[in-house]
This record gives sequence, C-alpha cells and structure tokens, in this order.
Amino acid sequence: MRKVLVATEKPFAKAAVEGISAVLNEAGYEIALLENYKDPADLLKAVEDADALIVRSDLVNKDVIGAARKLAVVVRAGAGYDNIDLAASTERGVVVMNTPGQNSNAVAELAIGMMIYMARNQFNGTSGTELRSKTLGIHGCGNVGMNVARIARGLQMKVIGFCSYVGMDRLSFAGVKFVDTLEDLYSKCQYISLSIPANKETARLVNFDFLSRMPAPAVLVNAARKEVVDESSLLRMFAERPDFMYLADIPPDCAGEIAENYPGRYFFTPKKMGAQTSEANINAGIAAARQIVAYFEKGETKYQVNK
Ligand code: 3PG
Repeated sequence: MRKVLVATEKPFAKAAVEGISAVLNEAGYEIALLENYKDPADLLKAVEDADALIVRSDLVNKDVIGAARKLAVVVRAGAGYDNIDLAASTERGVVVMNTPGQNSNAVAELAIGMMIYMARNQFNGTSGTELRSKTLGIHGCGNVGMNVARIARGLQMKVIGFCSYVGMDRLSFAGVKFVDTLEDLYSKCQYISLSIPANKETARLVNFDFLSRMPAPAVLVNAARKEVVDESSLLRMFAERPDFMYLADIPPDCAGEIAENYPGRYFFTPKKMGAQTSEANINAGIAAARQIVAYFEKGETKYQVNK
C-alpha cells in the first residue's frame, strides 16, 4: 500500500484534510499526517517510509530527501517551490510538482485587503484615501497577478502590468495595459503588487532604483516572498520618502527597524497568510492528492517542476 505523508507546519483547514484523505482512500493509499510540527527532526522521521509527500512552505532540503528512502514524488500544495531542493530531488529521481493557480485568488484577496486596510489608516477613525483611480502596477503576471488585476479593475483602479514570463494576452481581458520595462512600470504606479517567484534572477530585484521612481503615495505590496525585495533599499525608501509604505505577507528581516522608526507606514502578517483560506487549502490540497494518484496510476507529470 502506498503511503502519502501530508507534512504541514502551518496546517490545512480541516475540510481540506478530509478532501485529501477521501482522494487517497479512494485510490487505496494510506495517509499520514504531520501537522503543526516545530522540530525539523519530526519531518525527517515521518518521511522515512513515505512514497509521496505533500507540503506547503515546509522546508524539503537535502536532509529530508536523504531521509526519505522510498520517496517518489513531492507535491508542493501551492505555487512557489523555493522551499524544495530541486537539485537533491532530481539527483535521487524524486519528481517535484506544484499546484499552480489553486490558491491564487486567496493570495490576491490578501494583497488587495492589505491595500484597503492601509489606505484607510488601519481603520483608526481618521480620514484615509480610496483606491479608485489610483494606478496599480502588477509586477509578475502569473495566476496571482491576474487575480489582483481582476479585483483591482473592479475597484476602478488603473492597472498596468509587466511580465517577463507569461504571454501578455493573458491579462488583456481585464483591461490591463502593459509596459516593456520595470523602470516604466514603477515610474507610472502609486501602488505596486509583487507576484514574482523567488529564484536566482529575482533575488533582491526590487531595489531603490525602481522604488524611487514611484509617484506618491508609493505603496509596495508584497504577497510573494521577502527575498525579492532589497532590504537596504526598503530602509532607504522609508528614510527618504515620507509617503512610502510597505505591506507584506511575512515580515522582512529588517521589520524591527521599520517598526521602531516608521509607525503607521507598514503592515506585516505575523505568518505567511496569503493562501490561508479554507477554499485555497481545499483547492491546493485536493489537487496535490489527485496529482499524486495520477502520477502513480498513469505516470502523469504535467506539473513537474524539476524536468
Ligand atoms: C504559495 O507559494 O503557494 C504561497 O506562498 C502559499 O504558501 P503557503 O501554502 O505556505 O501558505
């Protein structure tokens, strides 16, 4: 009997776990749950006899791959797979997949929610501003970017996109204009929403050169990864531009310095919250379980990311 380990340091909603179990049970597979674990050693032990692994942002490094003697496939229930050591997986012949698009509406709603919350001064009783008629730049036009654009258009924001990976026609339905360079994007937008993956090309990509071009009020929204923003540039923007705000799903390393010196100009979720909805958990979790069954039963590798 194949054994699938669901290892989630930040657990799925109960309904998602039930959905995952139902898919795996129907296929005749065993499910093992490791939720809320604090010690990476617990994952090393739990993965020992697993044929497949479902994770979220859980770290799947060389040690985990090494400890998993029977592992054939890892599915990251979500979009970003920067938490998985692809080289170590490939070396061991372990297939790695993600579940693109399954949690992107949840992440987009968080990005827009943070924008509204801060535009209204955190609902503190003072007069804020509106998003309508402001210009929003979508930096990275995959599934999350597409959803942010759709919601922003509903709020009657002007939306501009920049995309180096996905065909620009994907967003044309939403009335999004495109620019050819990042310089152009940042120069035109009061709000910028980041939806780029974290990798070698994007590490610290968002820097002072881009940010300082933004017209006031300059609001950077990051529901992607903290690593894509250059933190010395963030601190310089806070110091030199009193209109600058930074809203992020997970605090940057320099959060303490920002909190101490720039109150009211930042918002950071305490833990990565973008995909933390019941719907996103159900979508991504069940998709992960189905992909595992399809891999074992039919050899399907459509969402493999280490080809
Ligand atoms: C993703 O890459 O899919 C999101 O960042 C969600 O991550 P999470 O599953 O850890 O919440």
